[in-house]
Amino acid sequence: AAGPDLAGRHVVVSAGGTREPLDPVRYLGNRSSGKQGYALARTAAARGARVTLIEANTGLPDPAGVDVVHVGTAVQLREAVLKAAADADAVVMAAAVADFRPAAYAAGKIKKKDGQEPAPVALVRNPDILAEISAERARPDQVVVGFAAETDDVLANGREKLRRKGCDLLVVNEVGERKTFGAEENEAVVLAADGAETPVPYGPKEILADTVWDLVALRLAAPADG
Ligand code: C5P
Repeated sequence: AAGPDLAGRHVVVSAGGTREPLDPVRYLGNRSSGKQGYALARTAAARGARVTLIEANTGLPDPAGVDVVHVGTAVQLREAVLKAAADADAVVMAAAVADFRPAAYAAGKIKKKDGQEPAPVALVRNPDILAEISAERARPDQVVVGFAAETDDVLANGREKLRRKGCDLLVVNEVGERKTFGAEENEAVVLAADGAETPVPYGPKEILADTVWDLVALRLAAPADG
């Protein structure tokens, strides 16, 4: 659609949802399908970019012409993103990263004991990868994009999150009703740190992906400030 406007660029996209293991058979997870991240990877490749897709638990086939790194947990995702981001022009964090992980991993399957209440599961915080890569830009001109799923006060919460995370663009999704996880379509507003707001009407995830790349390409073409 937009031509090879990302030729010569390296972009990093994370997709899917992390799983945080409790024991060898159980994990804490989320319902992210990874489809939006895969749409971002495909559209960037179609626009000429070298794409590193960091995938967590999607079960989706590797897109053609894209370097795919498979990870499981938030800690593994962080390591892969930081490594790939070192020389990246843009990083798009479309993955749903677990905010918490179990404090302990049981090497053997946790057993239920007759007549006993289950032990509470203690959690610890996972690193916030988006905030970290935004704060410590591997390159001063790197464009960092985050995603946020909100159920209410979507724009106000989105603006607050954009500021708190320190990214350049934040794609805000309203979740709930027909806008369920795993859908082929999406509706969103892309908020920019410079105050611009780009609404993207309900439609295929490729349309939202191309809008994100349009906004990224604009920022890559402009000289970095500061
Ligand atoms: O704070 P919240 O989870 O709503 O933020 C969502 C955005 O932050 C997404 O872009 C997600 O990939 C990123 N994130 C992250 N590391 C975390 C939690 C979220 O990079 N631990």
